[in-house]
Amino acid sequence: MRLLVLLLLVWQALGEVNKPRPVPPVILVPGDGGSQMEAKLDKPAVVHYVCAKKTDSWFDLWLNMESLIPGFIDCWIDNMRLVYDNTTRTTKNSPGVMTRVPGFGSTSTVEWLDPSHHYPTSYFYDVVEAMVTGSLGYVRDFTVRGAPYDFRKAPNEQQNYFKALKHMTESMYNAVGYRVVYLLHSMGGPMIWYFLANQPQSWKDKYVEGVISMAGAWGGSVKAVKVYTAGDNLGIYLINPRSIREEQRSATSLAFLLPSPDLWKEDEVLVQTPKKNYTTSNFKDLFEALNLPDAYDMYLDTKNLLKDAPPPGVDLYCLYGHGIYTVDKLVYQEGNFPDKPELSYGDGDGTVNLRSAKVCESFASKQRRKVHAKAFPVMEHMAILKDVDSILYVLETLTNITEKNEEAAAKALAEEREKNMQCETSENLLKGKQ
Ligand SMILES: *[C@@H]1O[C@H](CO)[C@@H](O)[C@H](O)[C@H]1NC(C)=O
Ligand SMILES: *[C@@H]1O[C@H](CO)[C@@H](O)[C@H](O)[C@H]1NC(C)=O
Ligand SMILES: *[C@@H]1O[C@H](CO)[C@@H](O)[C@H](O)[C@H]1NC(C)=O
Repeated sequence: MRLLVLLLLVWQALGEVNKPRPVPPVILVPGDGGSQMEAKLDKPAVVHYVCAKKTDSWFDLWLNMESLIPGFIDCWIDNMRLVYDNTTRTTKNSPGVMTRVPGFGSTSTVEWLDPSHHYPTSYFYDVVEAMVTGSLGYVRDFTVRGAPYDFRKAPNEQQNYFKALKHMTESMYNAVGYRVVYLLHSMGGPMIWYFLANQPQSWKDKYVEGVISMAGAWGGSVKAVKVYTAGDNLGIYLINPRSIREEQRSATSLAFLLPSPDLWKEDEVLVQTPKKNYTTSNFKDLFEALNLPDAYDMYLDTKNLLKDAPPPGVDLYCLYGHGIYTVDKLVYQEGNFPDKPELSYGDGDGTVNLRSAKVCESFASKQRRKVHAKAFPVMEHMAILKDVDSILYVLETLTNITEKNEEAAAKALAEEREKNMQCETSENLLKGKQ
C-alpha cells in the first residue's frame, strides 16, 4: 500500500513542472493521543520502586513504547494522569510532574508520535509526505504546519491552545497570502468545531478556507463509554486496555468525547446490565455505579460545550470511513460489570460511530459556506490517514482550492493590468492635449 502511494506521488511529481503554486496553507490538528508529550519529574512519591522520582531533563512521555511495557506502565500512568479539582473545575498534572507539548508550528511531532520515528507510530506522516512530494509542492513548517495540543484536556481547558492556533492561522495567512485549511483527525473535529464556533464569521471569512475532516468524531463515540467501563486503547496502540483505563478516566477529553444526547436518544441503551440500563440521559447513575465522581463532574463541565453551537461556518470536507464493526452497546451478564462486557456493534470506522461522523455533513443545511462529504467503505479510523484513496482525495481537495486561488490571482492580475492600462490611456490623452 505504501509503495503504491509512493509510486503515485513520484508519477505526479514528474508530470508537472516544479513551480510554486498558490496552495492554501494547511494546519494539522490531531486527535486524542495524536500529539507528543514530554515530562520532567520531581515527585514527592512514586507508585513503585522501579519508577523514577526525579529527572534532570525532559523525557518522552507520549509516545514512548518502552514506558508502556508491563512493570513500567504503572509509573507511566502516575506521570500521565490528571488530577481534578472539583472547586476550580480544572485539572492539573499529578504532583511533581511537569509536562509540555513539543513542536507547535512544526509538523514533525504530529507526523510521528514516537520521536524515534519507528513504524507503526507514524501519524500524519503519509498525508504530509503526499502533500510535499506531489505536484502541490507543500513545504514542511512553512505551508504545512502542525498544531499539537495536550489531548488529555477538553476545549474548556484549551484557552491558550486556541489563542496560539488563532495566531498561527493569521500568521500563515499573512505569510502565504491565501486562506488556511485545517486538516484534522478524530477529536480534532469537535476541537475545531468548538474553536470556530467561538470566532466571528468575519474572521473566518477572512482567514479560513475550510476544514478537511478525516474521521472526525463530531458527535462523540460509544467507545468513550467503553473506556470508562471496560477500558479501551482507542484504536491507537496495542496496549492492554484495562491497564491504561485509570489514566484515561482522568482525562477531561474523554468526558468530552462521550456520545452526544443529540445523536443518542434517551431510549437508546448504551450499557445494559441485569438490574439497570444506561443511556445518555442517566450518565450520572453510570458514573455512580463506576464510583467515578470526578469523571461525572468532568462530564458536567464538558457536556454543553457544543450544545446548540453554531455550525463551523467554513467550507467543510468530511472524509469518513464506514463498514467496520464499531461498538454501539455494552451488554453485561450478572457479575461482569464493568470489566467484561459483551459488545454489540453498529456501523462506523471501528472507533467513531457512523452517526457521529455524519454530523460533519449535516452542517450543509445550517451554514452558508459549502459542505462536501466523502464516505469510504470499509475504512478504519486510523487507516484513513494512510490509505491511497483517502490521501488522493485530500490532494484533490487541496488541488481544487489551489486552482481556485490561481483563478483569483489571474483575475486580480488582469484587473490590475486593466487599471494600469486605463491610467496609461488617460495619461496619453493628457499628453496628447498638451
Ligand atoms: C469534591 O470532591 C471531594 C472528594 O472526592 C468530595 O468529598 C466533595 O464533596 C466534592 N465537592 C464538591 C463541591 O463536589
Ligand atoms: C434494558 O434494555 C433491554 C433492551 O435494550 C430490555 O430488554 C431490558 O428489559 C432493560 N432492562 C432494564 C432493567 O430496564
Ligand atoms: C474537484 O473539482 C472537480 C471539478 O470541479 C470536481 O468534480 C471534484 O469533485 C472536486 N474534488 C473534490 C475532492 O472536491
